[in-house]
Amino acid sequence: MGIKLLSFNMHRVAIVVTLLGVFAGVQESLPSRHFKSKGHRRHTAAANEPHFTEKYLDQIVDHFNFNSMGNGTFSQRYLITEKYWNRKHGPIFFYTGNEGDIWDFALNSGFITELAQQQGALVIFAEHRYYGKSLPFGPESFQPPQVGLLTVEQALADFALMISQLKQELGATACPVIAFGGSYGGMLSAYMRQRYPNLVAGALAASAPVLSTAGMGDPRQFFRDVTSDFEGYAPECSAAVRGAFGLLEDLAEHQAYKRLQAVLALCKTPSSPQDIRHLKAFLRNAFTLMAMLDYPYSTHFWGDMPANPVKVGCEAMLSGPDLLTNLKNLAGIVYNSTGEQSCFDVSSLYLECADPTGCGLGSNSMAWDYQACTEVELCFESNNVTDMFPPMTFTEAEREAYCTKHWGVVPRPGWLRTQFWGDALSTASNIIYSNGDLDPWANGGVRTSLSSSVVAINITDGAHHLDLRGSNDADPASVISARKTEADLIARWVETERLKMKNEV
Ligand SMILES: *[C@@H]1O[C@H](CO)[C@@H](O)[C@H](O)[C@H]1NC(C)=O
Ligand SMILES: *[C@@H]1O[C@H](CO)[C@@H](O)[C@H](O)[C@H]1NC(C)=O
Ligand SMILES: *[C@@H]1O[C@H](CO)[C@@H](O)[C@H](O)[C@H]1NC(C)=O
Ligand SMILES: *[C@@H]1O[C@H](CO)[C@@H](O)[C@H](O)[C@H]1NC(C)=O
Repeated sequence: MGIKLLSFNMHRVAIVVTLLGVFAGVQESLPSRHFKSKGHRRHTAAANEPHFTEKYLDQIVDHFNFNSMGNGTFSQRYLITEKYWNRKHGPIFFYTGNEGDIWDFALNSGFITELAQQQGALVIFAEHRYYGKSLPFGPESFQPPQVGLLTVEQALADFALMISQLKQELGATACPVIAFGGSYGGMLSAYMRQRYPNLVAGALAASAPVLSTAGMGDPRQFFRDVTSDFEGYAPECSAAVRGAFGLLEDLAEHQAYKRLQAVLALCKTPSSPQDIRHLKAFLRNAFTLMAMLDYPYSTHFWGDMPANPVKVGCEAMLSGPDLLTNLKNLAGIVYNSTGEQSCFDVSSLYLECADPTGCGLGSNSMAWDYQACTEVELCFESNNVTDMFPPMTFTEAEREAYCTKHWGVVPRPGWLRTQFWGDALSTASNIIYSNGDLDPWANGGVRTSLSSSVVAINITDGAHHLDLRGSNDADPASVISARKTEADLIARWVETERLKMKNEV
């Protein structure tokens, strides 16, 4: 549910991970999930650049067992800027890092620093354990039993300890904390408010699919909503996509593999039904990414995306010489943004995993795959009826088989629902669930306000956590108004918390 891609500026440390023999020779340190990222653009020297300092905190490896291997500590990375802080008084804005390199989130969440400037806040972006550079056991982190300490609960406890410790160190004990996050990070920010209301006064959970990932959604929802985005641009567009996948299916059925290779510019000739499934998943993923990242300006968050990628994708589907060539061109928007791929090496550009919306590449993808095999449920299917993609199931049974084989674990459907109040989110307080109508994750989240302080915000024309991004001239009015509502609620929570703290002394 994250993403990312392209050209490796990052060091390519090839580590051989023998994950029960599945992933071998995975590149470490690629910052993101669905894609290889371009590395960090730290040099866009805008006048108001936040100038984060990168630091590490000694973190407890196992918060919940006093005599396991988790006796020790590891270095957890975080980014901090005091540039806007009304020292010792202003609030702390704490980003609960998700499934990737923390720099990627810090550099694509300009709203948080803009708000910090308005409200005099200290800003911290905390990296999630097992991602980026916060690997508790270095390259061994993804082996059993070490990988077992990758859980939502451990990650939340990391954030809780970090908040407590940094408040002490910075003389910020009187400063209310607001958690921020997008996507899985948004889930974590809401969970922080639910689990640690003693530490966190409120949370902005942007594009957080708290319901679908807790098994409370419809498995058809995700790809149906990707389809709606393309249909919303032009009904002919989804018809063209269906047509292209239909042709692909015909060629595959006739084992016209060479022909498929030629027309789709594949590096390797597909040779089995498994290869065809992988090819279809690779192609479907291009649509997923364009829908999630359908921002009105070009971005470099999860790879390079042009402005309005859904529109650009539809135009590709509707303008070329034939449907399969058009589909290849569409894939190129996502996988060949650098223009450097002479052919598509589908097995290195896309990994199949326990998240049918993609796991990215590199070690971050392993961590996410493990999470999708344990607590986070992502059983989404496409069926060519409620969506425009070839039928590809991913049932609980298929998930269980995959996870048992790849990680030796059996997923526990329903755990997140129990642990984080899936049925009773209205009993929480001070949480904003914001969602963009264009985002295929939106309908897996909270869409209507549940109480006066558990508030849902819809962002018309908004894609995946657009509200967390910095202001842009191309922003739709809806996101400007959403950010205003968010800013007002957050300021109010901070004031209330301040009063409460005063009365408690
Ligand atoms: C935990 O720490 C104590 C004190 O440093 C040490 O004696 C003990 O061996 C450690 N246990 C494990 C399981 O690492
Ligand atoms: C990638 O883009 C370049 C430049 O436009 C093009 O020459 C090449 O054929 C593209 N590769 C694929 C696989 O489509
Ligand atoms: C999708 O369904 C249409 C009929 O609605 C059919 O013509 C097409 O071949 C199907 N595509 C796939 C990939 O199954
Ligand atoms: C947001 O949109 C959904 C459906 O598109 C609707 O059901 C819901 O009531 C809207 N919520 C708010 C807070 O406007």
